Amino acid sequence: MAISGLDLSRIQRLETEHQPPLYAKREIALVRGEGPYLFDSEGRRYLDAMSNYGVAILGHADPEYAAALTEQLQTLATGHQSFYSDVRAELLEEIATIAPTGMTRYFLSNSGAEAIEAAIKFARVATERPSLVAAKRGYHGRTLGALAATADQKYRAPFEPLAPAATHISFNDVDALAAAVDEQTAAILLEPIQGEGGIWPASPEFFQAARDIASNRGAILIVDEIQTGFRTGAPWATGESGVIPDILVTAKALANGFPIGLTMMSDALSAAIPSGAHGTTFGANPLACRAALVTLRAMRKRDLYARSATLGNALMNELNTLNSPKVRQVRGRGMMIGVELKERVTPTLRALQQRGVLVLPAGATTFRLLPPLVWEQEQVAEFIEAASSVLA
Ligand SMILES: Cc1ncc(COP(=O)(O)O)c(C=O)c1O
Repeated sequence: MAISGLDLSRIQRLETEHQPPLYAKREIALVRGEGPYLFDSEGRRYLDAMSNYGVAILGHADPEYAAALTEQLQTLATGHQSFYSDVRAELLEEIATIAPTGMTRYFLSNSGAEAIEAAIKFARVATERPSLVAAKRGYHGRTLGALAATADQKYRAPFEPLAPAATHISFNDVDALAAAVDEQTAAILLEPIQGEGGIWPASPEFFQAARDIASNRGAILIVDEIQTGFRTGAPWATGESGVIPDILVTAKALANGFPIGLTMMSDALSAAIPSGAHGTTFGANPLACRAALVTLRAMRKRDLYARSATLGNALMNELNTLNSPKVRQVRGRGMMIGVELKERVTPTLRALQQRGVLVLPAGATTFRLLPPLVWEQEQVAEFIEAASSVLA
């Protein structure tokens, strides 16, 4: 039962009547969560294999997280960055412990798209160049700048012309990348594993080539870890390739559900950004900073990066041993896994939901697992049992 006391049909009616029709809704109302489980308005329990699009990395209603946010709400919730803040300072110190080598400056905002928007602006102001090179199937958000970097016509077409101009090359195609970057290119913008596009990992050679091409031609390399951040067995998926970007962007899981965006950069890049060139009212407020601080500390103390690797390997092995006739390929790293089917994905999403398991689509034929890192072997077994019957 929802705390509000609203039943499902009233919830559905109110949302349908008062929201623009932007989202294809799944028919249930999620009203409560507990660790790796979500509950709907009718009291039905679901295994959460999606973390609300990769956000709830500590699971739901985590007591330590809830207590810290409650304490912060009772102390100070809002605070503009024209004043110093104790909790912001602590968060910056914590971020420094997981930042890739050389990434010493952190711009905090309120969402993934905003963090990308900042990255694009910083690259443009630092290089004094206008355009971007990004990848087909890539996804970077829905604000106009982030949308320019996002390739899929489905998202872009109604809003064109978009600025900045962007060229989209095939992911993992080194020659195409080399041909696309010129003296107008401010930045190359790439995901280390394409998430919305269907869970496609970048090859280490492609990432290394992106680094070399950016450095040789005076462009900035921006890596979008908004979805990959914290769940691939390490804080950053980029680490695997040994590449150090100029800007690394993350959001989603960073504050376990509290809206936040983070754009990290080097001292040198930061020095090229004039005072007053960018800003945000809500960004880096004490409540958001406390949410990120408690999340990052919990990840470290509970050793959740290692758990992500172990559980992710177990899930991928078990999915592969199902030998399902419906599955074309299982791809991913840690707790970011895509299962590409030989057919359209919607009936499988629905069948899993009916069996009490929530997963996400990633493109037309792939379903995606982005589970909270509080899963245990028990949840892996529960998922595999449901998947084996739905994929039989
Ligand atoms: C890789 C990537 N970049 C950017 C975004 C945009 O983030 P937000 O939805 O918080 O604006 C997303 C969201 O799915 C994403 O997966």
